[in-house]
Amino acid sequence: MSSAWVEIDLNAIAHNFEEIKRAVGHDKKIMPVIKADAYGHGLVPVARVLEEKGADFLAVSYVEEGIALRKAGIKIPIAILLGIIPEEIKALFTYQLTPIIYRLEIAKKLSQEAQKRRTQISVFVKVDTGMGRLGVFYKEAISFLKEVNHLPGLKIEGISSHLALAETDRRFTQKQFMRFKAILRAASQVGLTLKFNHIANSAGALMYETGLSVIRPGLTLYGVYPVRSLRQKINLRPAMCFKTRIIYVKWLPPHVGVSYGHTYVTTKKTRIAVIPIGYDQGLFRQLSNKGEVLVQGKRVPIIGTICMHLTMLDVTKLDKVDIGEEVVILGKQGNEEITADEIAFKAGTISYDVLCRFGRSNPRVYL
Ligand SMILES: Cc1ncc(COP(=O)(O)O)c(C=O)c1O
Repeated sequence: MSSAWVEIDLNAIAHNFEEIKRAVGHDKKIMPVIKADAYGHGLVPVARVLEEKGADFLAVSYVEEGIALRKAGIKIPIAILLGIIPEEIKALFTYQLTPIIYRLEIAKKLSQEAQKRRTQISVFVKVDTGMGRLGVFYKEAISFLKEVNHLPGLKIEGISSHLALAETDRRFTQKQFMRFKAILRAASQVGLTLKFNHIANSAGALMYETGLSVIRPGLTLYGVYPVRSLRQKINLRPAMCFKTRIIYVKWLPPHVGVSYGHTYVTTKKTRIAVIPIGYDQGLFRQLSNKGEVLVQGKRVPIIGTICMHLTMLDVTKLDKVDIGEEVVILGKQGNEEITADEIAFKAGTISYDVLCRFGRSNPRVYL
């Protein structure tokens, strides 16, 4: 058994997919975002569950992720969110991947390759409606779409955009939706049929009534809420737990420093438990003297500085603690729960970072 592991509940992901469908309406098409190893939950196992549940498309960042999915036997369409470089064009055809494009130079190269192979390739055109990141600026979208539409061998499936402030600013988000829909109207006026258009992430899909038919959720699939108020609307189940075991227990007298820098000094007789993980396993160093974990279903504090592979807990309040006992860093034990949001808040980051980091730094066990 490893010193630490993440447990992934694939049934929770299936449940969350169903819940999202129920909340947005069964007529909506879903493109789950499974980049970054499905936010740390494992690219292929998560893709298999979502394919089985009826996802319409999958979205990843990189061509390599798309290739890994195809090699694992995933059949449904796969979008490459980040766009592509010329060296990746052949692989798109070999593995039947759908790139998102926003540079004419790439569109032309794709068209040339498609003609050479006497075939057609589907693409999405990425539009920047207010994220200020990838994509053709929304005012130039129609002329770009027209140019791409003239290139032989390319089939524009639809347009794609991304929301910058879905959780925090309704007015600006509505503006992004309006810009997106204006492009769709203008496209239809010039005779372009765009069937599969997506802009809404989890928050965009669950907090707004947009009338758009495709959504692109990530975080909620893994059971984490983008905002607290959505708890009223949808019942999500966290899919990841992060666990380890106690390797050492001892009593320390008062006035003794614990760990590097003695950032914690005992004030009374204190029983400490040592766990064999630290920042190498993704345990944010910012949780030193701040974080809590669960032992015997109770919250106990992390004391002293978190080391590379060692972290100390104050377990004085527990009656009896044994070496080998399970410790939960993220997830439930008994009636207590430590959420990705709680860890993110204490570490000064976001829940996405917590999931990706724990998932990538530890072996995964599937339930
Ligand atoms: C382009 C794009 N679409 C969709 C998502 C999914 O967003 P969320 O995880 O907030 O649902 C992301 C996440 O970062 C993204 O970058």
